[in-house]
Amino acid sequence: MSAINRQIRLASRPVGDVRPEDWEHAAVPAEEPGEGQFAGRTRFVSLDPAMRGWLDDRPSYLPPVGIGEVMRAGSVVEVTASNHPGYSPGDFVVGTFGVQEHVVSDGRGATKIDPSLAPPSTCLGALGMPGMTAYFGLLDVGALKEGETVVVSGAAGAVGTMVGQIAKIKGCRVVGIAGGPEKCALLTDELGFDAAIDYRAGDIRRALREQTPDGIDVYFDNVGGEILDAALTRLAMHARVVICGAISQYNNETPVQGPSNYLTLLVRRARMEGFVVFDYAKRYAQAAQEIAGWIGEGRIKVKEHVVKGPWTTSPRPCRCSSAARTPASWCWNWPDRRPDARPRGLRGGPAPSRGGPPRRDGARARLRPCRG
Ligand SMILES: NC(=O)c1ccc[n+]([C@@H]2O[C@H](COP(=O)([O-])OP(=O)(O)OC[C@H]3O[C@@H](n4cnc5c(N)ncnc54)[C@H](OP(=O)(O)O)[C@@H]3O)[C@@H](O)[C@H]2O)c1
Repeated sequence: MSAINRQIRLASRPVGDVRPEDWEHAAVPAEEPGEGQFAGRTRFVSLDPAMRGWLDDRPSYLPPVGIGEVMRAGSVVEVTASNHPGYSPGDFVVGTFGVQEHVVSDGRGATKIDPSLAPPSTCLGALGMPGMTAYFGLLDVGALKEGETVVVSGAAGAVGTMVGQIAKIKGCRVVGIAGGPEKCALLTDELGFDAAIDYRAGDIRRALREQTPDGIDVYFDNVGGEILDAALTRLAMHARVVICGAISQYNNETPVQGPSNYLTLLVRRARMEGFVVFDYAKRYAQAAQEIAGWIGEGRIKVKEHVVKGPWTTSPRPCRCSSAARTPASWCWNWPDRRPDARPRGLRGGPAPSRGGPPRRDGARARLRPCRG
């Protein structure tokens, strides 16, 4: 008898906040792999704010998830059976396989990873889409130069923590904007940011004036809204404003709040440019190598939050709420029902520690690319 494939599907299109009733839990027979395919069991599912945007029926860089379809998500699966020459049972693979327990793939868009080098979940965080987003947004779109001042909003999130740490490696002054004293302390005390601004504590314009005396050369925007508008007032000459996301606007039931201070772009001869990380897919391998090297050298600290819980209730397959405040990249460790199951999805040996560099030797040379 074939295994049961538990899936989370979109039941209705949310307006504003996503509600539990917008999801449908389904259980269908798992598919067998055909010729040239492999089958895999899901171990970790990425929980990204970008997933909220995939639920709206409006033009975007990807078509919206259809009603009744399995929710789109990046995930790490363990290969359980294979008729594909490139994959064997026991391999770990990252790809956009959706929120479901069993997958069948012909390998397109999938990338093998080596879980002995870093926890598989890291390929959904620092070495996955958030890490790639920070790397290409900052270095390509932001055209960062040594000695510049970088300000990043959503600084304690999956992307923001990486943006700030990469900018420090590149010799910049880094100011992070985050909500609450604990997150601000994390940025300065643990992640090496030069300063942190608590946007909930008061006058953000004044705080930006104090922390960026020479103006902002690169503003990396994850949140949009009022914070973007405040940052625009501080642009230095020839500044670059990187539009990565607008998390403060995703659950709006009213039109997106646009910046009113955009004429600073004119006065400062600055530019504002959006980007989609998927456009850089051909260069993920190079970026992953470099980031893995920084992690191995202890220059980047990996912050991950692994959610556990029964598949029927928790978590909702979308971390779209601003209530989700734990600073880190988030993923869901799919509950394992096998009696011999290891909780982290690793074969043999002790589970690597989380929250620090995975290893110091060989990571640069041996790490394989991860795709978001
Ligand atoms: N362009 C691309 O290709 C691409 C790819 C991936 C992600 N993204 C975007 O990048 C952004 C960051 O993603 P992420 O994975 O780092 O998210 P994340 O881990 O959830 O972090 C985002 C941070 O935003 C803050 N935040 C939430 N609501 C806010 C509000 N109303 N005002 C100000 N800050 C708020 C939260 O921290 P506080 O508690 O500090 O408020 C949170 O830590 C998102 O907008 C996402 O859509 C873009």
